[in-house]
Amino acid sequence: MAIIGKDISEAKTLLQQGQLVGIPTETVYGLAGNALNPDAVALIFATKNRPDFDPLILHTSSVERVHEFVTQIPFPLDLLASKFWPGPLTLLLPKKGIVPDLVTSGLDTVAVRVPSHPLTNKLLSELDFPLAAPSANPFGYISPTKASHVNDQLGDKIAYILDGGSSEVGLESTIVGMEEGEVTIYRLGGLELNAIREVVGEVKVMTHSSSNPKSPGMLKSHYSPTKPFILGKLEELISEYSTKGIPFAVLSFHQKFPFLDQAIQIQLSQRGDLNEAAKNLFAAMRTLDTMDVSVILAELFPEEGLGRAINDRLRRAAVQ
Ligand code: TXA
Ligand code: MG
Repeated sequence: MAIIGKDISEAKTLLQQGQLVGIPTETVYGLAGNALNPDAVALIFATKNRPDFDPLILHTSSVERVHEFVTQIPFPLDLLASKFWPGPLTLLLPKKGIVPDLVTSGLDTVAVRVPSHPLTNKLLSELDFPLAAPSANPFGYISPTKASHVNDQLGDKIAYILDGGSSEVGLESTIVGMEEGEVTIYRLGGLELNAIREVVGEVKVMTHSSSNPKSPGMLKSHYSPTKPFILGKLEELISEYSTKGIPFAVLSFHQKFPFLDQAIQIQLSQRGDLNEAAKNLFAAMRTLDTMDVSVILAELFPEEGLGRAINDRLRRAAVQ
């Protein structure tokens, strides 16, 4: 198992040696390596069992440093950068030659983010290279929002996990780029669509495709628990699975079902708060996945605020 701690200099030493470290961010935990060292980047793909056609996000400590890796931040993405960095926003930008092709899977754009977690920001500001960091989970599984989640799945493959507590936002960053002159959202995430619209006006939201994913994070089946995950009207699903005699657990926004055992129910936010629900979502999906039941029953959230990104993750978890 990995060592879990708050020692930035230990993390720094390992990263300088080309090793990988679990890092906290406000969205989810990342599996970080030196983005300018192709061996470290290759190790990230191998450790996650991630196909090399799925490019990585480059993390750095400031907007100024982003310019070391991209030729420009075109208008109006520059407005988003100055408004939302550091924060749960990833921009797809034209890359400079210094970024290894392995990071971008050969694409001419690189995904860049300035995260806002204080520990990781301190680490990034002390390093003289950026960190490539996908979410620290085996490819296709639920992203980690606690150091222990990283340790559970990758602890035998990495030496150190920097512990920054529970991720504040709990959903991966929103990925934004330009396509044919239009601001385009490639992945809904921790930065709300409306916040982006307020700065740049109307945006195009890419729908997922299983056949031709521009961004493999858009694969229909992703972020998935190992148990069947069924979406629908909870009352109906509960009655159907009770009748069939199939053991189930229930994931709801705030509703409690008093006639069911409390131990098989998780409410993501008892006060009906979408931000709180987002923060709790992935930990809840992991807990449900370990329960002694055959299926997980869940419902869609209101399509507003972070509810959109929550629904995106629920829908993809439900694709088997
Ligand atoms: O919140 C986050 O973004 C977290 C934390 C650790 O920063 N990272 C994360 O990374 O979610 P990952 O690798 O799990 O997801 C990154 C997504 C992938 O779906 C990838 O396909 C897409 O970003 N991506 C990366 N570079 C891209 C590019 N040049 N063009 C299109 N999509 C890209
Ligand atoms: Mg991921």
